[in-house]
This record gives sequence, structure tokens and C-alpha cells, in this order.
Amino acid sequence: MADIRRILSDMTIDEKIGQLTQYTAEVLGGTGGAVTGPAADLGLTAEEVNTVGSVLNFKDSVEAIALQKAHLQADRHHIPLLTMMDVIHGFRTIYPIPLALGCSFDTALTEACSRMAAKEAVAGGVHVTFTPMVDLARDARWGRIMETCSEDVLINSDMGAAQVRGFQGDDLKSEDSIAACVKHFAAYGGAEAGRDYNQVELSEHVLREYYLPAYKACLDAGAVMLMPSFNVLNGVPSVANSWLMKTILQDEWHFDGVVISDYDAIGELIAHGIAEDAADAATLAFNNDCTIDMCSTSYMHHLKTLVENGTISEAHLDRAVLKVLELKNKLGLFENPYRGASKTAQSPRFLTKEHRALAAKAAEDCAVLLKNDGILPLKKGKQTIALIGPFADSHDILGAWFCNGRQEESVSVKEGIAALVPEATILTAVGCDNTWDSHRTDGFNEAIAIAKAADVVILCLGEPSTYSGEGNSRTDLRLPGMQEQLVDEIVKYNPNTVAVTFSGRPLVLSAVNDLLPAILHMWFPGTEGGTAVANLLFGEANPGGKLSVSFPKVTGQCPIYYNHTRTGRPAPAQAETQHIPFRSNYIDCGNMPLYAFGHGLSYSRFVYDNLALSSDHLTAGGTIDVNITIHNDSDRAGDEIVLLFMRDTVASTARPVQQLIAYQKVSFAAHERKTVHFIVDEPMLRFYNTAHQHVSEAGRFELSTGCADHLLLTTSFELTGC
Ligand code: NOJ
Repeated sequence: MADIRRILSDMTIDEKIGQLTQYTAEVLGGTGGAVTGPAADLGLTAEEVNTVGSVLNFKDSVEAIALQKAHLQADRHHIPLLTMMDVIHGFRTIYPIPLALGCSFDTALTEACSRMAAKEAVAGGVHVTFTPMVDLARDARWGRIMETCSEDVLINSDMGAAQVRGFQGDDLKSEDSIAACVKHFAAYGGAEAGRDYNQVELSEHVLREYYLPAYKACLDAGAVMLMPSFNVLNGVPSVANSWLMKTILQDEWHFDGVVISDYDAIGELIAHGIAEDAADAATLAFNNDCTIDMCSTSYMHHLKTLVENGTISEAHLDRAVLKVLELKNKLGLFENPYRGASKTAQSPRFLTKEHRALAAKAAEDCAVLLKNDGILPLKKGKQTIALIGPFADSHDILGAWFCNGRQEESVSVKEGIAALVPEATILTAVGCDNTWDSHRTDGFNEAIAIAKAADVVILCLGEPSTYSGEGNSRTDLRLPGMQEQLVDEIVKYNPNTVAVTFSGRPLVLSAVNDLLPAILHMWFPGTEGGTAVANLLFGEANPGGKLSVSFPKVTGQCPIYYNHTRTGRPAPAQAETQHIPFRSNYIDCGNMPLYAFGHGLSYSRFVYDNLALSSDHLTAGGTIDVNITIHNDSDRAGDEIVLLFMRDTVASTARPVQQLIAYQKVSFAAHERKTVHFIVDEPMLRFYNTAHQHVSEAGRFELSTGCADHLLLTTSFELTGC
């Protein structure tokens, strides 16, 4: 361990400020020679560049090693450079997008995937990942919904914590671990109208109840860094928002780790109209304890004057620098500055057989079988298969934020099916584009011709990966281009047609839903996507994923989520098909999504027989045993995700119609009957009252199991003594 206090005592103010600044590798490339290009554009001198304490967005381990070497030579204290990257859902072996991981309801799987990514990332020269992203999202128009795990607070929290455990492991010094940075604090996913970077206006009650817990869960799991979000939250951008950065993060949660701004977010305080100039922006961010300025020159060019003129104390500056040095110590960088970075851009750690197997398993477990009239699973053997659609043989299946992954290393649907069913003749036709502004139908004839010639058609549909991720919001969530018309045509010629869909967000599938006997939603499944599609379609794997997010019927239903508050004028069931005046419903559409939170089919048939409680009374400090008996009434072994919902019948604030309080993924043998056991206690029933206290209130609580729009069994108990 380096003696960081001694190092600090010997540092100049300029050197200290360097530790609090991060630039891209492109900018740092100016080290040693004349400063040109990006560094010059920012107005940085060679001396300033030499002091910079951390870097993001480098190409590979070779570049990371070169940057570290140059930095260690240039820095008179030999303080190692920290390298950071967006390792979101894999480094080189790419696993399903986080929203897909949410549909596995499997924290062990998520942790294993993050661990795999960490091992590869270490070899790739990475010390810190800007993950997990746990911004609750209820609006599928927002393209960054692909980076979150769910519309539900519990799933988001559990999955975020699992990612932290996976990335960081037990020991940050280990060459299998990298540090995790939870983001984007806070409520970035609440962007008005689903438009990225847009303002967020949420009551404190809603923030505390739904949006904040996942960040806290990640910090409790040990995440050593945090990134404030770009957005304005209730009037103030996060990095300058002292309610968030001080009251919540420090006073309530006692977080004392490194806070890094989002990319140029401090500089953007000027565009927000919160800061008059860069010095003002630096003051606001620094006084809210943002430790590192990512990519603006606010700290680099203004902190020194602010310290010299007494606006910021040197003691405050020192505390911030110590946090950065402490993180470098925790990662063991002073002793081991290259930390397992591979000397060549390739590493034996990348894309191993085990990693590909885990990516395939994850892609299978995250897929959601939305519909199946019995046509699936398909039979293997000699046959003619028509693969039609933009994803028939596409490698655009990794999803946004695919880090160092390579599309060409992924398995397309065609390749996956050819490998699993080698005796089949596979015909392929794209049919049409999947860009939103394409109206071309000139590929339809070829697609129809192969559909006619085939025993079975597999339509491979969806939106390009560039339609989700940062900055990529949509106003129309239907299949883009002429894909709906393509479905319409193909099923006329061959009704033996199933669809496989790909996207980074919930899609609006209403126009094709009734036409298709089966729909398997793959999200963006990653490197082994095609392998998983083949295994699932042909019954080698049994679909078990359930939706962690609602699929709207029409885009105008957004934001839509299962755990909405009860209204005073709830819509009766018939409002799904007709407008009921003076009730909370629409003239032209029902309230329910096309596919609700918790929906997902299997090739097994699970029958929920009984929901029993050990008592009809619960007291604070006590517990109730919940036993759900489920029968696999089929010849197929399979996994069932069992969801336990709660409804607080009367409380001092209006409570949601349903709220997930526990879940389990359970494996069943063919025809097996099992009792799935949950324990419910008083803390699981708490909510934020109007005084922002997390409390439970005595009264009747209902417990249900099933899917959010289709509860199968319900019972209730009384909470007393609160
Ligand atoms: C901006 C994004 O909002 C954030 O998620 C990411 O970590 C940074 N850029 C760095 O790439």
C-alpha cells in the first residue's frame, strides 16, 4: 500500500487538480510531444495533460499499457493512471443487454456474467467500469431503457447489487476484479416524454419509493464509485443538486467514495443556465463533492484560482484527492500499475469456450416467449426452413454499448440454426429494411417465394441496435420500416410461421401479434444470440424468462408500468375493449399493456394449485411463511419464475395496485409438484409516508402470485402492532 498521505503532502495544487480530472485516451495521446488534436482543442498544455489522473475510452490493453507507461514516467510521484471504460454487458464476450438480464430474474446468472466481463476487462487494461446503471425506467421511448434491468424497484436493486458483486468480487486487488461505478444518480430514467437528457420532475415521495433504492442497493453491495446523472432533477442538474449529492448521498447514505461527473456534465451546467461560466460550474460541482470532472476543463482550468481566492479550501481539495489515491490503493495500482493488462490486444481470457457457453445460457434464460399457440418447439430433422427478415442472418445482435465486442464474432440466427439442424435446407431473405424511414417493399417477392417453398418460416424482426442506448429515443415503438407489412404478407403464404424479435426496448407488437402463432423475444442477446435462438426454437432449451418491463399496446400508453398507484376512478375490466366515461381510461385503447410485467411462457405447463399462509396475522418483528404449490403438468422439465405480489389495502398514501415483494426461479422435473416457500416480514411491507419516513401501517395486506395482469391466487393477512 502506498503512503498516500505522504504523497499528497508533496503534491502541488496543479498535480492535485490533475487527479481530479479525466480525459479520453485521444486527449492523453498528446503526452510528451507537441499538444495537438483533442488536447489542443480543449486548450490543455502538455504539463496539464501529464498530471491527468484517469483516462476513459482507450482502444485496447496495448494502448492502456502505453498510456500507463508514459504517465508513470511523466509523473514525479509515479502515481498510476486509473483506466475506466463502459463495460456494460460484457467486454469481448457480450452477454444480453441489462434489460434482458432483468427478465431472467436470476441474480446469480447476472453476477456470473459480470464476473466474466470483469475477467476479460482486466486483460483489456480496464480498472473501473461505469456500471451498473440502475435508472428505473417506465417509458420505453427512452433508448437507455436497454441499460436498466426493470421497471420494478426490487428487480433493479437486486440486479444492480449482483452486478457490483460480479465486477468487484471479494478483493478489488484481484486480477479478476474491476471497480464498479453506479450510475446515473438520480432518476435519469424519468426523462420527460422519454427523450434522452430531458428534465425529470418527480416528487420526493416517488423518488424515495421507486427511483432511489437501487442506487443505495449498489452502494450497500460495495460499489466504490458513483456517477451523477446529466438531467435536471426537480429544477437542478444532478451534479449541482445538493439535495441529492449532500442530503441523500452523504447525510443519509454516508457514501464517502469517489464521485465522477458524467461526460462534460460539469461544463454543461452553463448550458443548463445554472452556472454563469466554467469557474461557476466548477464551484457548484466541487462544493457538491463531485470528485472527478469527466472531460470538461472546469476543474483543470479553474480549481486553482478558486483555491487561491479562497472560494474552495485546500483542505477540501485534499480530501477529494485522497479519495482518488485511496481508490488507486484499493485496486493495488501503486504496486501493480498494469494489473493483468494483456501485452497484446488479444488475450487468452477473451471469448473462451466457457465464456461463450455462459453467454449462450444467459441469452436462453433472458429470452421471453411472448406467445405460443402450440407451434413451438419446432421439430429438428430434414426440412426446408425460410429465415425471413432483417435479423435472419444479422450480426447486429450485440445491442448498444458492446464495448470491445465484435459483431463478426457473434452467431447469427442463420448460423445458430444451421449448426443445430444441419440436415435442414435453410433459405434466407431480408424482405425489408428495419430503419424507421424505409418504405421499400421490393424485397417482399423474394421473401414470399421462399416462404412458399418452406415447411416452416422463422421471421426475424426488430429494431437496429442503434435505436436504443444513449441519445436514441423513439416516438413510435412499432417494428420500424415495412416489417409489419412483411409479416402480413408472409403469413398469407405460409401460416406455419413463427417470429423471433430483437430490440433494446419493449416494442409495440399489436399489429403483428394476432397474425403470428408464436413470438419469441430475444432482446439483444449478445455474442451467442443465434445459438440461443436455435436452442429455444427447436426445444433444446426451454424458455423461462418473464418480462421485467411492460410491452405497451400502443406507444401513447407510455409511460406504462405495472405498479401504478390506485386511482379514485379505476377502469373496470370492460374498459379494455370499450371506453367507459368518467373512469381512468382511454377512448381508443385499453389501459393494460399487450404483455405485462411477469408475462412469459414455457414449453412446460405450470399449474398454480395453492397459496397458503402459516398465519393470517403478522406482527412487527415476526414472519409469515408463504407456501405456493405448483405442479409441472407436462412432460418437459423447466424453470418457473415465481412472483409474489403485495397490495396494501388501506394506507395513509395511495399505494400501488400491486407491488413485487419477492421472487424465486425454481427448476421442475417433468410432472414434478413443488411447494415454493417465501418468508414475509414487516420491513417488506414498508413505504414512504408523507413525512418521508419508511414505515408500515397496520391493516390488511393481500398477497398474490402470477403475472401482474393475471394474478392466479390471492390471499390476505392482517398486520398488527405497527
Ligand atoms: C455518457 C453516459 O451517460 C455514461 O453512461 C457513460 O458512462 C459516459 N458517457 C462515459 O462513456
